[in-house]
Amino acid sequence: MKIVVIGGTGLIGSKLVSRLREHAHDAVAAAPNTGVNTLTGEGLAEVLRGASVVVDVSNSPDWDDAAVLKFFETSTRNLLSYEATAGVKHHVALSVVGTDRLSESGYFRAKIAQEKLIKESSIPYSIVHATQFFEFLKGLADISMVGDKVHLPPVLFQPMAAADVASAVGRIAVGQPVNGIIEIGGPEQFRVDELVRRRLATLKDPREVIADSDARYSGAKLSEKTLLPGNDAPLGETHFETWLTQPAAQIPKAA
Ligand SMILES: NC(=O)c1ccc[n+]([C@@H]2O[C@H](COP(=O)([O-])OP(=O)(O)OC[C@H]3O[C@@H](n4cnc5c(N)ncnc54)[C@H](OP(=O)(O)O)[C@@H]3O)[C@@H](O)[C@H]2O)c1
Repeated sequence: MKIVVIGGTGLIGSKLVSRLREHAHDAVAAAPNTGVNTLTGEGLAEVLRGASVVVDVSNSPDWDDAAVLKFFETSTRNLLSYEATAGVKHHVALSVVGTDRLSESGYFRAKIAQEKLIKESSIPYSIVHATQFFEFLKGLADISMVGDKVHLPPVLFQPMAAADVASAVGRIAVGQPVNGIIEIGGPEQFRVDELVRRRLATLKDPREVIADSDARYSGAKLSEKTLLPGNDAPLGETHFETWLTQPAAQIPKAA
C-alpha cells in the first residue's frame, strides 16, 4: 500500500516512515526538502499519484499566531484538495490531546482549524490526538520563559515517547478510517513543572523551573486535567525513566 507521510522528515514522520517500511508498505516521506511543499502545492500531485493513505505529521516552522494559522489552514486545504483529485481513501492527521479545550492558544486555534477542514472534507479520516512527546519537554521549557526562569503550571499530563506515537499512528494509518478522533497517551501521569525540571536536570540545563498556577501553556490557561487523555486511550509502553536511557533522550529537541 502506498502511504504518503507529509512531514516525513520530522521527529514523528521519520520514525513513522521507517515503521511502515518495516511492515512492507510503500511509505514515501514528503517535505520541502524532498520536493513537496503543502503551502505552495509543489510536488503534491506527483507524490499522491497511486497513494491510498496520506498521513499528515507536518508542523509549522513558525509558531507566531498568524503564521501557524496560515500554515495549517493553507497546507490542509491544499492537501485535501489534491487528495480528492488523486482518489486518496484515508487522511490521517496528528494533533494534540485537549486541542478543543485550548482555544486561548494561537497554536491550538490553528490545530482546531486544521481539524475542522478535515472533518468537513469528503475524504474519510482519522484524527490522532497524542499527548506531549518526551522529546518536547525542553521545547516546553523554551516556550515558557518569564525572564530567565521557566514558569509552568503544576497540572497533570501524561506524556509519551515519539517512537510510541509513530507506532500508534502507523497502526491507525493502515486500519479503517474512524471519521473521528482517537486519543493516545503515555503510561504515567506527572506534574508538568516536575517533569520539565527533571528533564532539564538530565540535560544539565541550569534554568530554574517555577511552579506557577497562573502560567500558561502555549498561551492557554490549564486546569488540573486539561492535558489528560480519556480513560480508554491506548497507552504507549515506554516509561520516562526508560526513555532517558535511550539515544533519543540524548538529543534535546527544540520544539
Ligand atoms: N510536540 C508535541 O509534544 C506534540 C504532541 C502531540 C501532537 N503534536 C503534533 O505532531 C505533529 C508533528 O510534530 P513533530 O514534532 O514531529 O514536527 P517536526 O519534527 O517539527 O517536523 C515537521 C515536519 O513538517 C515538515 N514541513 C514543514 N513545512 C512544510 C511544508 N510547507 N510542506 C510539507 N512539509 C512541511 C518539515 O519538513 P522540513 O524539515 O523539510 O522543514 C518536517 O518534516 C505536529 O502537527 C504537532 O501539532 C505534537
